[in-house]
Amino acid sequence: MKKKVLVTRKLLRSNEERASKLWDAKLNLNDEVYSQQKIIELSQGCDGILSSLTEKIDEKVINSLPPSVKIISNFAVGFGNIDHQAAKKRNIIVTNTPDVLTDATAEIAMLLILGACRRAKEGMEFARKENWKWSADFLIGKQLTGSRLGILGMGRIGRALAKIAKSFGMEIHYRNRSRLSPEIENGAKFHESIKSLFSVSDVLSICCPATKETKNIVNKETLEYFPTGAIITNVARGDMIEDEAMVEALANRKIYAIGLDVYKGEPKINSGYLNQSTAFILPHLGSATKKTRTAMADLAISNIDEFFNTGKCKNTIN
Ligand code: GLV
Repeated sequence: MKKKVLVTRKLLRSNEERASKLWDAKLNLNDEVYSQQKIIELSQGCDGILSSLTEKIDEKVINSLPPSVKIISNFAVGFGNIDHQAAKKRNIIVTNTPDVLTDATAEIAMLLILGACRRAKEGMEFARKENWKWSADFLIGKQLTGSRLGILGMGRIGRALAKIAKSFGMEIHYRNRSRLSPEIENGAKFHESIKSLFSVSDVLSICCPATKETKNIVNKETLEYFPTGAIITNVARGDMIEDEAMVEALANRKIYAIGLDVYKGEPKINSGYLNQSTAFILPHLGSATKKTRTAMADLAISNIDEFFNTGKCKNTIN
């Protein structure tokens, strides 16, 4: 008999076809964002769940899942939406989709840097109206060449961004739990502390996972470490920024501009960002290319398939 898998969000067609070939897949044809209660109800009789970052699968949900559920395969590299420790206690493995979205996300990280530094939001607004005229000082922004890029979290995405940013003539600095080997560092300068990294960051790119340690790491106090007029960008998770402090730093020009793709409590965005001309903001597009989304879902499916066939999976995170 085919295994039964709840697929919580709509996937691209080729991915849904593969899932339906492999399993009795409960697809979400209307792409409704399921409530926690609905996930519990729909998972009855299922052997696994293919979840996505829009669902909060916390301890309460995990403990209410039927005992038949043995795997939660998250359609994302980040897994802050799942209480993986609670899952482990119930013998449920949690998997993610590393590697396949590195380049697409690094591209968006670079877009955020360019958009914030070169005042893309204001430029796009002027271009659509007839109220602009070229002048020597029109929409002057900050040039990347020769400026210092601080990368918080030098994992796959951070390293891919470092490579791109180097080709723009940026000097790379980073903070990571552990220092990288010299070959992987490739000239980037390691910082022992957040204070040390932030104080040299003309531009910061947040690329680290959301954990207890990184929550609100950019806050009222640490914003003071930055050079006046720094640019802060975030392609990882909204949890890392204390929004009220950031809005205030933008208003008082301590921070020149921000570039954000991720937010606390998505899809809501702190209203303080919405009317800031210096906020270049996108709706969580990091991995949004056909190639990458297809590869991510394919990997999330393969993770379940591997687990059903062998009892384990190489992309297990708990
Ligand atoms: C996207 O945000 C992901 O974690 O894959």
